[in-house]
Amino acid sequence: MIGLAGGPAAPADAAAGRSGEVVMVADAPALSAPTVAEDCLTPGHCVLRVEGLEKSFRRGLPPRRRQIDVLSGASLMVCSGELVGLVGENGSGKSTLMQIVVGLLGRDGGEVERRGRLGYCPQVPMLWDKLTVDEHFALFARAYGLDDDARERAVADLLVELRFERYRRYRVEELSGGTRQKLNLALALMHQPQLLLLDEPYSGFDWETYLRFWEMADRRRASGMGILIISHFLSERDRLDRVYELKDGEAVVA
Ligand SMILES: Nc1ncnc2c1ncn2[C@@H]1O[C@H](COP(=O)(O)OP(=O)(O)OP(=O)(O)O)[C@@H](O)[C@H]1O
Ligand SMILES: [Mg+2]
Repeated sequence: MIGLAGGPAAPADAAAGRSGEVVMVADAPALSAPTVAEDCLTPGHCVLRVEGLEKSFRRGLPPRRRQIDVLSGASLMVCSGELVGLVGENGSGKSTLMQIVVGLLGRDGGEVERRGRLGYCPQVPMLWDKLTVDEHFALFARAYGLDDDARERAVADLLVELRFERYRRYRVEELSGGTRQKLNLALALMHQPQLLLLDEPYSGFDWETYLRFWEMADRRRASGMGILIISHFLSERDRLDRVYELKDGEAVVA
């Protein structure tokens, strides 16, 4: 989870800036008008605009070194109050796209513009085995710049919403996979981001938690959060305002 409200993402952002800066417009009224990306109903409220994104990786050693093109002109938009899906086969570049938006990876071409506080729930939880759940909340609250009251309120609500209050004093290495995923999600949400990026956030959730997750997402959408969620399940399409499919490096509205 990375928060960009002066939080721990700053070094990653700076690193990404070396090969392509991600523009963050904290209090700007609106992002640039989309040209390639699918228009949304209220462009003035967009919190994320990705346009013509390109990314290749190099693999192997010379003379067998080869270039793998993952993204070749991917464009999408997310507006405030939208729940947008990103689907695609394994290896199609979904996580790569999200990591570029967050600033963890640089890009080879294209533009990324985002607005407001960012929450990021990575596909593989980035947690510390020896720290407790409470210690994670304290660490992230510090990074997000939350005071003690705001932190306690946010943590109390999230622990109840996700039902893992009883694990507050457990170290991460003592948690089940699903509970780690709950913590991963809670850390991305505790500073009430305006743009939330979720990379398969519910893998490991039991059915009840999975349903509760969608209720949480609905509540946050209703409060104006813009959410981009990577998913494999086409059955979730009805829950989403728009779905992009990543195919051959491009994002098309599915
Ligand atoms: N750091 C890296 N170095 C080299 N290749 C990479 C790197 N990261 C990702 N790739 C390659 O980029 C492609 C896209 O990977 P990515 O993780 O974005 O896919 P994905 O759509 O998220 O897949 P999944 O559904 O399995 O999570 C894959 O072929 C992967 O092997
Ligand atoms: Mg992935």
